[in-house]
Amino acid sequence: MRIERVDPADTDAVRACHQAYLAAQRADEPEPWMGERRFGGWLAVGWIGDPGEVWLAADEPGADVAGWYRIELPDRENRDRAPLELMVRPEQRRRGYGRALLRHAAVRAAAHGRSVLSAPARNGGDGEAFALAAGSKPELVDVQRVLDLAALPAGRVAELRGQAERAAAGYSLRSWAGPVPDDLLEQAAAMYNALSDAPRGPGTEPEAWDAHRVRERINDILPRFGMRAHSVAARHDASGELAALTTLAVEEADPVWGHQFVTVVARKHRGHRLGLLAKTAMLDLIAAAEPQVKRVVTWNAHDNTHMTAVNEALGYVPSGQPGTWWQLDVAAVSAA
Ligand SMILES: CC(C)(COP(=O)(O)OP(=O)(O)OC[C@H]1O[C@@H](n2cnc3c(N)ncnc32)[C@H](O)[C@@H]1OP(=O)(O)O)[C@@H](O)C(=O)NCCC(=O)NCCS
Repeated sequence: MRIERVDPADTDAVRACHQAYLAAQRADEPEPWMGERRFGGWLAVGWIGDPGEVWLAADEPGADVAGWYRIELPDRENRDRAPLELMVRPEQRRRGYGRALLRHAAVRAAAHGRSVLSAPARNGGDGEAFALAAGSKPELVDVQRVLDLAALPAGRVAELRGQAERAAAGYSLRSWAGPVPDDLLEQAAAMYNALSDAPRGPGTEPEAWDAHRVRERINDILPRFGMRAHSVAARHDASGELAALTTLAVEEADPVWGHQFVTVVARKHRGHRLGLLAKTAMLDLIAAAEPQVKRVVTWNAHDNTHMTAVNEALGYVPSGQPGTWWQLDVAAVSAA
């Protein structure tokens, strides 16, 4: 078995890893799956521009990729941690690839001064069995939900939006397509900072955003994913502050899916149904701007009761088993 570094600029290597990714996804995950461009963008820069490394395993040079991993090396917060995605083609499983890639990832993480690996896996699947065999400990549980737009009763979104608007007097909406507009960079950073009280794994630090980071780590990397992003924000009229933000993106390669990214309401503006207001306004926006979208997919922490209540009111239903983030001790894995 050879384990080789992947250069994310090497399109052949990225394609080979994407094929292994798709083979694994078909076995483990309900749709949607990432297209090659989005996958390649994520391999290169992650979702928020943190550095990372990608390595693949194959039997011999030129053979199909049997499995691969990506470790992320956060460079602002959580510098003791290395989030990990690792997968092996279904037909190559139980042959030691996973264990070899995991040990390799731990050695690389240690070389970057990291002490903890954290990796997601669906409950009840091969990933969970593997994580348990590797001695990992469970952290946060996430639930994937999907909204089937065709199944929404006529008038449902308008009814919910009306309820939200009545509770949200004194707020107005602003929407945009693509990157965060320059005049909102600072306010958007404040919204990302407002995520600091969302559920997260024990020992995980919240991210600290500023305008520069939003420009560099959201706006500048967006073109890499081949996605069209749409955002809706609620503004508090009296202070001019942003009070809520939601972003949804459509992958050009598979545009029937909407991917719900962040939704956040700033703490002091909670209790005015701004989450429901922003999300119903987003559904109206998507119906006009992306009429081909049939389903929207989102992930929420299992214990994020407020966000889950908003999503259930809209008609989202769970998709597949929940996923658990597993935490592994780098020193223990690399010594194993
Ligand atoms: C998890 C995954 C990477 C494992 O890859 P793999 O190459 O099959 O792993 P290995 O062959 O090295 O297995 C190592 C040990 O894990 C355990 N294990 C792995 N899969 C298992 C399963 N389906 N049932 C029970 N034990 C399992 C076993 O103890 C195994 O050792 P053994 O085969 O000597 O009994 C692969 O199943 C996968 O890609 N799953 C989907 C992605 C995923 O969930 N990744 C997150 C991992 S935290």
